[in-house]
Amino acid sequence: MDAATAKPVPRHIAITMDGNGRWAAARALPRPAGHRAGLKPVRMCVEECARRDVEALTLFAFSSENWGRPADEVGSLMGLFIEALEREIEELHGQGVRLRFIGERRNLSVRLQGRIAAAEELTRGNSGLKLQVAVSYGGRWDIIQAAQRLARECSSGALRPEEISEEVFGSSLALGGVPEAELLIRTGGEYRISNFLLWELAYAELYFTSRLWPDFSVGDLEEALGFFAGRERRFGQLSAQCPAAAKG
Ligand code: IPE
Ligand code: IPE
Ligand code: MG
Repeated sequence: MDAATAKPVPRHIAITMDGNGRWAAARALPRPAGHRAGLKPVRMCVEECARRDVEALTLFAFSSENWGRPADEVGSLMGLFIEALEREIEELHGQGVRLRFIGERRNLSVRLQGRIAAAEELTRGNSGLKLQVAVSYGGRWDIIQAAQRLARECSSGALRPEEISEEVFGSSLALGGVPEAELLIRTGGEYRISNFLLWELAYAELYFTSRLWPDFSVGDLEEALGFFAGRERRFGQLSAQCPAAAKG
């Protein structure tokens, strides 16, 4: 619940931060300028989520498929991740944020892997906002790595196949231990999932906006939260069966 408005607040918000390239093109700037401008709404969302007692925020920064972009664009994004991590980590730590990265790390440079490991180690004990940044992440990759992990446990005898429940499978995913995503926000005007949290979005509310990510403002976030608060979350049941809190 939002203390000020008494409206339900999602425990976990996931955001597909799309539209950086178009934002730059509209200003006749190179695409990396759009990615850089996207850092401002990231800071805003972290602060606002922490302030509103949102438990977890997961940001889609670079997909498995984004490796297929031209090398100079991939290089500038990777450079930006390193720079942003180096510059922001102390501030995030000071805010009590627990920062984690999800995705296939082996594809990242040794330097970026090192920065990620250090940031996770530094903030591991923090009890504030759980912030997950998805880099080199794909929902299909995640499901496959979970399946492989469980298959290894089965073949070693530590687990029986019939013990694989939704809970066991879910906790083997990269977001295991983080509450299920309740609201997905996608900026940039596309109405698709683009291989984001395939398992976790099973019952999320989906909010799409044409706003380009670098322009995403507090007002836009409030609009998305208002949309969430107005949904009746039935989870397959009838309206009459739902507690008032699920009705927003
Ligand atoms: C999102 O912005 C950032 C990444 C996918 C890395 P885009 O780079 O996809 O921007 P558009 O969609 O081309 O405008
Ligand atoms: C999704 O955006 C991935 C991220 C925002 C990191 P894309 O721009 O890569 O998605 P498509 O190509 O429009 O599906
Ligand atoms: Mg895009």
